[in-house]
Amino acid sequence: VQLIVGNWKMHGTRSRARELAKAIASGKLPAGVMLSVAPPFPFLDAVGQELAGTSIGLAAQTCAVEKEGAFTGEVSAEMLASMGCMQVIVGHSERRALFHETDEVVAKKLRAALRAGINPIVCVGETLAERDAGRHEEVVARQVKAALDGLDAKTLERIVLAYEPVWAIGTGRVATPEQAGAMHARARATVSEVVTPGAAKAVVILYGGSVKPDNMAALAATPGIDGALVGGASLDAKNFLAIAENAVKGEASRKSLETKRT
Ligand code: 13P
Repeated sequence: VQLIVGNWKMHGTRSRARELAKAIASGKLPAGVMLSVAPPFPFLDAVGQELAGTSIGLAAQTCAVEKEGAFTGEVSAEMLASMGCMQVIVGHSERRALFHETDEVVAKKLRAALRAGINPIVCVGETLAERDAGRHEEVVARQVKAALDGLDAKTLERIVLAYEPVWAIGTGRVATPEQAGAMHARARATVSEVVTPGAAKAVVILYGGSVKPDNMAALAATPGIDGALVGGASLDAKNFLAIAENAVKGEASRKSLETKRT
């Protein structure tokens, strides 16, 4: 089963968000894919209403570390839970780069989500400079380790990882299936070291960065790629649904290859 998450980032208006959610909810979904969308905070309620009664999940883009208190402008994981959020993205590279979220803060946000009963989607990924310096594997391993250190295999069942190379985000320059596959394998190996081999085998790892309908199938056909975290293309219902459809096709072609090999 492929998981496709739409990260709407800071886009839209209340009415536009409602329209987009309605259009996604009315689409025909193939079997073998799960969808969720992460609208901006102020639109969670409206979008949640449109998604009510569908299988599409409601997610948020970040959360505060603290539960409540004098933290002007912050939104706690408990508040998100009360809005019906099932998932929350933590450690997105935009938050790391623009809002100075360190590995330590990301680890705390992940635990805040768990505390509130929301499942975290933890983003990791290297910058172009880090890749050019040959440090991409080391950076992603460090980010995964920092986020998951101390968690047990049972808790890992609630966590989704997303590999999002910074150089592929919003650039139109998608990682090749080989590049993404290799990094997913590296992230999985780190989960194996930090948690357990069983947790590593089971953990869902999404790819993110310039995912479009026409590159999704090849990504989903790659072993270890369990879905996508989609930015720009998730703002168009047709594209988002086409990505879901192509993810199913890609995974099916992978499975038929695997059957042929064995
Ligand atoms: P784009 O799909 O717009 O490249 O964004 C990816 C992303 O950052 C999703 O979280």
